[in-house]
Amino acid sequence: MSLHLGVNIDHVATLRQARYRTMLGAHNVEPSILQAALEAESAGAHSITIHLRADRRHIVDEDVYLLRREIGTMMNLEMGNTPEILGIALQVKPHFVCMVPENREEVTTEGGLDVLGQKDLLRASVSQLEANGTRVSMFIDPDLDQVRASAEIGASMIELHTGTFANELGEKRSHEAARLKAAAELGHSLGLQINAGHGLTTTNLPELFIVPHLSELNIGHSIVARSVFVGLRAAIQEMLEAMKGYTHA
Ligand code: PXP
Repeated sequence: MSLHLGVNIDHVATLRQARYRTMLGAHNVEPSILQAALEAESAGAHSITIHLRADRRHIVDEDVYLLRREIGTMMNLEMGNTPEILGIALQVKPHFVCMVPENREEVTTEGGLDVLGQKDLLRASVSQLEANGTRVSMFIDPDLDQVRASAEIGASMIELHTGTFANELGEKRSHEAARLKAAAELGHSLGLQINAGHGLTTTNLPELFIVPHLSELNIGHSIVARSVFVGLRAAIQEMLEAMKGYTHA
């Protein structure tokens, strides 16, 4: 199977909210999140990723329901493990959920989820979601104890946090790539699907490709940023082209 691309369109919603946060539903609201999702799919995205945050700073509830109805690929819903968002996920039945840590002050998801420290709470949500037809992923740092904990609580997948890898250069980046490799190997041996994401770009991807067993990358910011200059379709196609360099899949 080839490496799949989940396109995160949160920042299309960020742009919309910058102007129309108090006017959603008005005739002149743009850009359309649905148009972005459909364009991403027609450009070759394998899934559409969105994060419904507690503060609704970009994606709002209506977006989740609309996209679930209209998209033709898979929906990957990123969420904090709170009763409110869990209730929405159980109603919406996305194909995938990715559990992320969330705090209000952060600019973006900073650091992986501490699965080890909240196994019981996470296990309960994972079993409800999986029984409801949603496959669940844990967004974790490449820490072997977190990989083991994710398998123990019944998750089907892990998404390895590549933020540190992306932000470092040289020796430090190679060291982080080695940690990602070890985490992917362990996760795979425990039967987990291995995904990765955060801060990935066409430039840093080649150095990630020492990591085996990758099934899906979730990429948002660099695609949306690039689309300012070349359009969403071309930005996604450039990313898909860069992903062809992955030979482990
Ligand atoms: N995966 C997860 C779990 C995330 O929280 C994010 C950021 O929303 C991404 C992937 C995408 O990261 P980026 O926008 O840096 O590509």
